[in-house]
This record gives sequence, C-alpha cells and structure tokens, in this order.
Amino acid sequence: MSQITIKSPKHCGEYYKQGPKIDKNYKKLFLALSSFLTAILLLSITIWIILRPAKPQFSLQDLQIYQFTLSPSHVNSSLHLTLLSKNPNRRVAIYYDDFQVHATYKAQQIASDTSLPPFFQDHQEANLLSASLVGNDIPVPPSLAYEMGRDQTLIGSFVLNLKLSGRLRWKVASWVSGRYGFNVNCASLMAFGFGSPITSKQGTQCSTTM
Ligand SMILES: *[C@@H]1O[C@H](CO)[C@@H](O)[C@H](O)[C@H]1NC(C)=O
Repeated sequence: MSQITIKSPKHCGEYYKQGPKIDKNYKKLFLALSSFLTAILLLSITIWIILRPAKPQFSLQDLQIYQFTLSPSHVNSSLHLTLLSKNPNRRVAIYYDDFQVHATYKAQQIASDTSLPPFFQDHQEANLLSASLVGNDIPVPPSLAYEMGRDQTLIGSFVLNLKLSGRLRWKVASWVSGRYGFNVNCASLMAFGFGSPITSKQGTQCSTTM
C-alpha cells in the first residue's frame, strides 16, 4: 500500500513575502545616506556662517598731489598715496595677490596703473601701503579742463578717486581658498592749493566691493 501525499500549495505564498523585505532595506539605506548628507550640508553651512570672511577694509591715510596739470587734450600728474589696509576677520587671514592702483578725476584716468607688491595679512592685522602714481601726457577729453575750471571757480575743491583692484585668497588654518576679485574706491576731497603739494585730510574711508 502506498500512501500518496500531496502537499497542499497553501504555503507557497509565504516565499513571496521576502520581496517587500528587500525594498525595506533599500529604504533604510536611502534614509541613512540622505540624513548623512543632510548632516554634512548643515555642518558646512554652520562652519561657513561662523567663518564667513568680512571684506577687507581700506582707508586713505595720506594723499599728496605734486603735479596735476591739464591742457585741453592731455594731463600730467604726480601723486603719492598711503593707504591703511585692515583685515577685520578674527579667524581668517588674507593673501593679496595682484594689486593695482589708479587715480581718476571725473571718471577719467589721470595717472598710469601702479602695481603694489603681493602680501600676506594675518587675523585683524593692519598694514600701511604706499604707492607713487605718475601720468605723463595722458590723453583726456577737452571737457575735463572745462570741468576742472568749474570746480576751481565754483566749488574751490575737487574729488579725486583712487581705485584699487586686485585678487585675494582667504586662509583658514591651513586651508587656502580660491582667488576672489575685489575693488576698492577711495574718494578724496581735495582743496585747490596755491602752493604745492595739495594734501588730503587723513583717514578717508574707502568702500570695498567683492
Ligand atoms: C606734460 O609734460 C610734457 C613733458 O614734460 C610736456 O611736453 C607737456 O606739455 C605737459 N603737458 C601738460 C598738460 O602739462
């Protein structure tokens, strides 16, 4: 006698229940990964907010104009300036790489660009920078001599702009950033002098844009 046993297929369905389990593991992995990435993102934002570097500050300490003569078409000039440069950051140092200065009167350049040597500025350090600017027969539009005549007779003074443009790198501990361009504008009110040189007031604050 033989007994034939036929297993009922009623439990077959249980094997398929494993499918959703694998999906759950993927979900856990995805959740872990995304919360890890979110944590890293929040940490970098926090570090950036704590360290976010403030723009460097500049003020014009001294400006001497030895020569500023205009003909209807050309200008000759000779000036010497001293700038105070300050790093306001407590944790960020600055490498100044390229650094150029030029002088303008009524948006016309009146002296050639002069380069300043690159330098390193530590946390909250201040440095004096000085430069001599010279312009030899720089061509200008005829309106400039007219405007200077008006400044002289109507106002008795004129505004000379000293413009710096350069590139800097931030340094935090041993990490150094990429290069960022920056521009500085110092507007100095100068009285027309009857004996030379014409001297500026001390400590004119300059604006920095990055
Ligand atoms: C500038 O200097 C040159 C050379 O000394 C002279 O020939 C020219 O006339 C001067 N121009 C002005 C505007 O003074």
